[in-house]
Amino acid sequence: MNALDFSGKTVLVIGGSSGIGNGIAQCFRRHGAEVHVWGTRTDTAAYRDSPDSDLEGLQYTQVDVADAAQIDAAKVPFARLDVLVQAQGTVLYARQEFETEGFRHVLDVNLTSLMVCARKFHTQLSQSQGSMITVSSAAAFHSTRGNPAYNASKTGAFGLTRTLAEAWARDGIRVNGIAPGLVETKLTRVTTGNPERLEGALRGIPLGRLGTPQDMANVALFLASPLASYVLGQTLLVDGGMLLA
Ligand SMILES: NC(=O)c1ccc[n+]([C@@H]2O[C@H](COP(=O)([O-])OP(=O)(O)OC[C@H]3O[C@@H](n4cnc5c(N)ncnc54)[C@H](OP(=O)(O)O)[C@@H]3O)[C@@H](O)[C@H]2O)c1
Repeated sequence: MNALDFSGKTVLVIGGSSGIGNGIAQCFRRHGAEVHVWGTRTDTAAYRDSPDSDLEGLQYTQVDVADAAQIDAAKVPFARLDVLVQAQGTVLYARQEFETEGFRHVLDVNLTSLMVCARKFHTQLSQSQGSMITVSSAAAFHSTRGNPAYNASKTGAFGLTRTLAEAWARDGIRVNGIAPGLVETKLTRVTTGNPERLEGALRGIPLGRLGTPQDMANVALFLASPLASYVLGQTLLVDGGMLLA
């Protein structure tokens, strides 16, 4: 038996339209799963020119997760769900996260939506004895001076992950998380697209390179698989050693 064969399984990746979530979605698809993704744009055509999006073979639904009512109302085009990956995330620059409106928006997208989506799919995950994986951040483990909301939301995601893991283990749902280091996506291009900032960032990563969506997908695959059957409530730091340095 191949523990990484997801044939016959259904996976939903919230935030699977771009970047890390998209890499995770395509990885599960390559391993046999039927994969659904949520994103913000109207339809798949709207992602055609995006370098961070490959929606080939994925089933797409538009849901703005900042709005809990939209999550609750979102159509679920599958009867069974085995793996829920929550990779949605946003960040605001230019001190917008120091304003109440900006702070609240980032918390809504990065933290509150994790709980609303988890609740929505709890019954299906319990029926399938499935698993949920949250995508937090290395930012959960150090301060990020310009982004108080991002930091609070990712630290919150870390706490929510271990708490839902304990609360839902007896329902047959294994909850774990991933805390990525620095991965080039549209969220981080403000750093990775600036040669000086990029060089500074790379100096702080012992493995000497940025992470890739595939690096994150490998860990998601492991966490959702029977290889991780006794791993519960853990948020795995996947940062090339960034926080060691
Ligand atoms: N890149 C990094 O270095 C890094 C490091 C640590 C943690 N992370 C975390 O990894 C996750 C993925 O981020 P990424 O770097 O891959 O960035 P990304 O490419 O911008 O992906 C973010 C995803 O979240 C979706 N999203 C954002 N706001 C949403 C909303 N209101 N409603 C529904 N979906 C929404 C985006 O949809 P659209 O495609 O429609 O925009 C996209 O699918 C995030 O949680 C992020 O915080 C990233």
